[in-house]
Amino acid sequence: MSSTATSEVAEILLAPTPPAWIDAAVERWRELLVDHASCEKKAASSALALMFAYPEDRRLAAALSRLAREELRHFERVDALMRRLGVASARLVPGRYATGLRAMLRTANPGRKLDLLLTGALIEARSAERFRLLAPRLADPLGAFYGELERSEARHFAQYVEFARAEAPGEWRARLEALALREAELATSPDRELRFHSGPPGATIHYTPSSGVPLSSSA
Ligand SMILES: [Fe+2]
Ligand SMILES: [Fe+2]
Repeated sequence: MSSTATSEVAEILLAPTPPAWIDAAVERWRELLVDHASCEKKAASSALALMFAYPEDRRLAAALSRLAREELRHFERVDALMRRLGVASARLVPGRYATGLRAMLRTANPGRKLDLLLTGALIEARSAERFRLLAPRLADPLGAFYGELERSEARHFAQYVEFARAEAPGEWRARLEALALREAELATSPDRELRFHSGPPGATIHYTPSSGVPLSSSA
C-alpha cells in the first residue's frame, strides 16, 4: 500500500515543494523540528475534532482513533529525538498554512465534512512529500526517521482520500482540485515564517520612504 500511496501523493499535490524551502529546512533543521513536534500534536488533535464532529460515523471514528494514536506516538518520538539532539521546545508564531486552508472550509454540512477530509488528505500528502525530500539530505538519526514518517503520512493521506471519496462520490474530485490549488499556493509562495508546511523564506522587508533608511548615501 505504501508505494501506491506515495505515488498518489505526487498526483494530488498541484505543485512540488520549491528547492529553496528544502535548502532552508536542511540548514534550519532544529527550528523545523520544533514545528514538526507541533504538527504531530495538531494532526492528532484534528483527527479527534473530526471524531467529535461526526459521532454517527463509526467507521470514520475507528480509523481516526487509530490515526490519532499513531500521530501521538510520532510526537513522542520527535520529542525524544529533540532531547537526544539537544533541541529545546518552544512556542512558535503560527505559520499561514493552516489558517489559509481553514479559510477555505465550508461552514455547513455535508460540505464541511468533505472539506475537512480533503484538507486532512492534502496536509498528510504535503507532509509525506517533504519527509521524502528531507530524508536523504539530513544525517541520521533524523534522516532515517523522516524516511519512515514519509510512509506513515502517505498512508494517512490515502485513508483521508478514501473517506472523502465515499462521502461524496460525485463531488470529491472537483472539490479536491479547488482546495489543492490553494494548498499549492500556500506551500510554494514566499513566506514570512519557515515552517514545516510553509512556503520558502522570502518575504523580505523592502525599503519604504517612511522607514527613514536612505537608499544611497550620495542622496
Ligand atoms: Fe505524523
Ligand atoms: Fe499523519
